[in-house]
Amino acid sequence: MFLELKHPLIANELGILRQKDCPPHLFRQSVRRVATLMTPYLCETFATEYYSVETPLETISAQRLQSPVILVPILRAGLGFLDGFLDVIPKACVAHIGLKRDEETLRPKTYYSNLPDSLAESEIILLDPMLATGGSAIEAVRQLRDAGAKNIRFACLVAAPEGVELFEKAWPDVPIYAAALDRCLNEHGYILPGLGDAGDRLFGT
Ligand code: PRP
Ligand code: URA
Repeated sequence: MFLELKHPLIANELGILRQKDCPPHLFRQSVRRVATLMTPYLCETFATEYYSVETPLETISAQRLQSPVILVPILRAGLGFLDGFLDVIPKACVAHIGLKRDEETLRPKTYYSNLPDSLAESEIILLDPMLATGGSAIEAVRQLRDAGAKNIRFACLVAAPEGVELFEKAWPDVPIYAAALDRCLNEHGYILPGLGDAGDRLFGT
């Protein structure tokens, strides 16, 4: 399942992010706002459970999330996407997968992984602003699945049709939520119109 989240506030942020002169500090703030705006869509089907709460006047039955939430940013650009999710799911645990795309082969190489034992019983949101060829996201899901993860959703800012197609073939049961579905990839594997190199733009490198 691929969902492009069409919302005026998200579209407004994409306009800011696409401007080549947007400096890293404004780019980071805008990515954080998009992440926050995307969160309700990603969590829409989370199960809740009832528990008793004493208000100042009476006892009521309130709701809370039934399962723990684990946010998994793909390093490095995924880190820029993390805080907007943590703003609204503050109790989420954060696991990390470090992947770097080889600029020649466009294949991802793993350089770091830190995944908790509780993947199987958690709701997992994998985060990466860019879904280009799809190689990085596909590999990250493979690592999560190998480590026991069941309920995974993937959140990205901008997706290329080529990457969506490959990802859906590899992981048909992992829904993709994107702020925008762009036109295509260029010959260097960059998304058009895209945002450029998201990691560089987030971290000013
Ligand atoms: C970028 C981006 C994704 C990946 C997408 O990361 O953040 O992780 O490329 O490309 P793909 O869909 O073709 O795999 P990069 O490897 O450049 O590392 P960085 O985040 O450290 O900049
Ligand atoms: N990684 C990026 O940061 N941008 C792209 O367009 C493709 C991969």
